[in-house]
Parts: sequence; structure tokens; C-alpha cells
Amino acid sequence: MIQINELTKIYKLTAKKMQELKTKENTKIAVNNISLVAKPGEIYGLLGTNGAGKTTTLRCVATLLKPTKGQISVCGYDTVKDGQKVRDSIAFLTNEIKLDPNFSADYMFKFFGRLHGMSEEQIVARREELFNVFGINDFKNKKIEELSTGMKQKAAIAVSLVHDPEVVIFDEPTSGLDIVTARNVTDYLKFLRDQGKTVIVSTHIMSEAEKLSDRIGVIINGNKVAEGTLSEIISQNEAEDLEDAFFRLYSKHNPEGK
Ligand SMILES: Nc1ncnc2c1ncn2[C@@H]1O[C@H](COP(=O)(O)OP(=O)(O)OP(=O)(O)O)[C@@H](O)[C@H]1O
Ligand SMILES: [Mg+2]
Repeated sequence: MIQINELTKIYKLTAKKMQELKTKENTKIAVNNISLVAKPGEIYGLLGTNGAGKTTTLRCVATLLKPTKGQISVCGYDTVKDGQKVRDSIAFLTNEIKLDPNFSADYMFKFFGRLHGMSEEQIVARREELFNVFGINDFKNKKIEELSTGMKQKAAIAVSLVHDPEVVIFDEPTSGLDIVTARNVTDYLKFLRDQGKTVIVSTHIMSEAEKLSDRIGVIINGNKVAEGTLSEIISQNEAEDLEDAFFRLYSKHNPEGK
């Protein structure tokens, strides 16, 4: 279970970042008072355009960022007060955190397994399963730096899941993957969901949100502007499909087209 209560995250901007964002403000509200609950046995999809606040939200859930305001609990543990307990309960995947380029997928898998206090037998059994699912065996002994983008992503996914955690937090998990591998990943997320795990994923791809998520939260400019099942979001917006609903929400909540 993930419970986000009134999460706000405000970044302080460096002069360079201010230039980049073409703003005179020295702070940026990346996430504005978002609340949501992702339940066991559910895939919750966070849908939003570039810069909407998806990664920021997920990094707060994964204890890598401290909320400016609000509170988050994962499996009943507070992300600020019980950070270690939260980290033990989650798999976290994001583009910004890469595996060490000098080591192999096999080495990284064992390393993280040991870090999570697993026995060698447990690690080997888990490796069998996950390396098969994601087709990693062919390149498991190659250095990460020698792998293609997709191979790196597959390795990162397997390593993140080594300890079979209750909660899976995947930021754009299929980015850089071909359709076959992307399908492996989304099928595996559904398998985890069916085992009763809590899964939250972010995406800007409508079809992925549509096919994968049991419930969808739409975020625009740091605000959660809609939430529900696919059919609820479509009917709430009198839309034909998710893309249509998204554009309606976007023009309503982003009138200046920023
Ligand atoms: N470290 C940071 N310092 C300052 N501003 C930041 C920082 N990280 C993100 N931001 C800003 O916060 C906002 C939300 O960013 P975030 O990365 O959460 O968006 P996102 O929804 O993950 O986008 P994308 O689809 O491009 O990954 C953006 O305006 C971004 O420029
Ligand atoms: Mg992001």
C-alpha cells in the first residue's frame, strides 16, 4: 500500500536552472498538494507530460527526496521517519539512477541481493527466474557499459526486483525498450499485481496507461487533475478515449499552453 497525503515538493532553482526554465522565480513547485492511494493487487498509473511531476512524486515515495509538505507511507512506514523500512519494501526504477557501468548484470544482481540480506541460494533462485523472464542470460556477464539501452534497462529492472518486494515503483519502465521487451515488462508487472503486490508506474504513453493501469491518476503541472479507472476518466470528461480525455484535461488545466 502506498498512501500519499497532500504531497508538495518545491525545488530551489540554481541560476542555471532558472535560465533553463526561463523563469525569474527561484523556486519551482514540481508537485502541488497531491494525494493518492495505490493498493495491494493494483497497478496505479501516473500519467502526465514531460515535467508534470511524475518522477518527483515517485522519488518522494522511494525516500530519495523529502517532501516539502505532506506525508507518504509505504506498507505503513513513513518515508521520512522509517526510510530504511520503506527502502526494504520497495523496488525503485528510474532513468536517473543507473547501474555501475564497470560491473556485470550478474555481479550487480548478487551485490544487491546481499545488500538486502538474502542468502546465496535465494539469490541464485531469484536470478534464474528474473534473468529468464527478462532474457538477460545472454549478456549477464558483460559489463553494463557494453550493453545497449534496452539491455541496461532490463538489467536495472531485474536488479531492482531481486528482494521480491511488496511495492514496485517504476518510473517510465518501458522507456528505451522494443515492443517485445516492453510487453515482457508490462506482463511481469501484471503478474506482480496478480500476486497482490502494489505497483505504481509513471508514463506519458497513453496506450501504456490504458492497457496497464487498473486506475490512472492524471497529473498536469504538478496537480492531480483526474483519477479513476480508464472508463471513469473517459466518461468524466465526456471523451472518446484516454488521449481525448487527456487533451480536454490539458486545455482546462493548462490554459496558457505552458
Ligand atoms: N532537481 C531539480 N531542481 C529543480 N527543478 C527540478 C528538479 N527536478 C525536476 N525539476 C522540475 O520539476 C518539474 C517536474 O519534474 P519531473 O522530473 O518530476 O517531471 P516528470 O513528470 O517526471 O517529467 P518527464 O516525463 O520529462 O520525466 C519540472 O518542471 C522540472 O524542471
Ligand atoms: Mg520523469
